[in-house]
Amino acid sequence: MTLALPSQRQFAQDQAQVPPVVSATLTVPLATGEQIQYANLDHAASAPCLRSAQDAVDELLPWYASVHRGAGFASQVSTKVYERARDVLREFVGARTRDTVVFTRNSTDSLNLLARSLPKATSVVLFDTEHHAALLPWRGPWVRRIQTPSSPGDAVIALDAALAAAPTGPRLVVITGASNVTGELWPIEELAQVARRHGARVALDAAQLAPHRPIDIQSWNVDYVVLSGHKLYAPFGAGVLIGRADWLQAAEPYLAGGGATKQVTSWGDRLGVAWSAVPERHEAGSPNVVGVHALAVACKTISAQWADIEAHELALLHRLRKGLRDIPGLSELSIFDGPRVGVVSFTIAGHDAGLIAAALSAEYGIGVRDGAFCAHIATRRLLTKAGSTEQRALRASLGLGNTAEHVDRLVHALRTLVTKGPALNYRLEDGRWVPEADTRPLPSFLTD
Ligand SMILES: Cc1ncc(COP(=O)(O)O)c(C=O)c1O
Repeated sequence: MTLALPSQRQFAQDQAQVPPVVSATLTVPLATGEQIQYANLDHAASAPCLRSAQDAVDELLPWYASVHRGAGFASQVSTKVYERARDVLREFVGARTRDTVVFTRNSTDSLNLLARSLPKATSVVLFDTEHHAALLPWRGPWVRRIQTPSSPGDAVIALDAALAAAPTGPRLVVITGASNVTGELWPIEELAQVARRHGARVALDAAQLAPHRPIDIQSWNVDYVVLSGHKLYAPFGAGVLIGRADWLQAAEPYLAGGGATKQVTSWGDRLGVAWSAVPERHEAGSPNVVGVHALAVACKTISAQWADIEAHELALLHRLRKGLRDIPGLSELSIFDGPRVGVVSFTIAGHDAGLIAAALSAEYGIGVRDGAFCAHIATRRLLTKAGSTEQRALRASLGLGNTAEHVDRLVHALRTLVTKGPALNYRLEDGRWVPEADTRPLPSFLTD
C-alpha cells in the first residue's frame, strides 16, 4: 500500500482560510514503516493548539510570575494578563456585565463547581443524553433526567412537563449546546424560554459548541455557561464558568486555600476565615495564567473569523457525510437528524469499532475516537436506535486542523477496511486492539 503524502502546498491551500494550528504538518509513523501526515479527526476530544495561542504563550513566558501575589513588575504583568482574560471570555460568550467569570481547569471542573454552589434543595432538570461531565455532578432531593427526545420539539415539550412537576424553590435546567456524540445542536433558546416560564435558571454546557459557533448567553437567556480551553485550541489546562454571581457568591469556596481568602485569624484552636468574593472565592491556589491567556487569545482568534471557520467545517462535514453514506453497513448515530457541528459517530455492522480505530491509526495515520464517548447512556441508546447491538461506536470530529484530504483518506480507509479487512494482524492488549508487530517509533523526546 502506498499512501501519498500531501504536499505542504496542498495543506497551505486547504488551510488558507482558517486560523492555523501548530500540528498542521505533523507526520506520524505507520505500522508499515512509512511516515504520513497525521489526520487528526478527533477534535471533539481535544483540539490541536492554535498557532496564535502558542505564540501568545511564548510571548508571555518570559513575563510569567505569580498572579495576585507579587509586587514585582512581572507579577503585575501576569496579574493584568489574567484579569484581562476575564473580559475577553465575557465578551466571547456574550455575558452580562455583572456576570462573574471563574477560571477552572475544564468544563467538568466548572460544572462540578456550579453543582456545589446551588442553593439548598435546588431542583435540577437535564436530558440523559448529556456528557458525563454534565450528567453526574448533580446531587439533591430532586434531579430529573429526561429520556433522550426524538426531536427538538419533543425536547421542549418534555422539559416543560418536567419543570411543571418540579417542587417549588430554586430550579436549574442543564442543557448542552452541541452533542459530543452526534454534534447535533440543541434548541438552546427554546429550552431557555421554557425554563424562564417556570422560573428556572439555565446552565449551558458549551464544551462542544464553543469551538464551532458563536455563543450569546445574554440574548439566549442562559444564566451559566462552561467551556474547556483544550477543546478550543488552547490546550494549557484552563476552563471557565461564567454566569450569575449570586449563587456562586453565597456558596462555600470550591477549594479552601490561599487566593480565596481576605483574612485568616486564629484564637486558641479555632480559625476565623473571611473568604473573598467571586470570582477569587472559587479560585484558591495559584492560578493558571498561561492557560487562561492562551484561552483568551484563542477566543479572540476564533471570534475574528467565525464565517471562515463555519464555512470550512461545513464543507468538510458535508464531504464526510457524503463519503460515509457509501460505506457498506455504516449507520450514523443521530438524536434528531438535525443540524450539527463537525462531529459524526457511526457504527459499521459486523465490525468492531476498536479494531477499526486501531487499523485507521496503524495503517492510515488517522486518529478517531471509539467507545461510548463519556456519554454512555446516549451512545448506547443511539446505537440501539441505529439497529446495532454493539456497545461502542466510532466518532470522527472535524476542526481547524483538518483538510479535505483527511476526510477523503478516512472514507477510503473505511471502505478498504470494510471490504478487504485490515492489512495487518491485531491482538487485544488491555482491552485495546494493537498491531501484532507494532514497530512505530515514539518521538525522540519520549525515548531519549
Ligand atoms: C459536551 C461535553 N461536555 C463536557 C465535556 C467535559 O469536558 P472536559 O473533559 O474538558 O472537562 C466534554 C468533553 O468531551 C463534552 O464533550
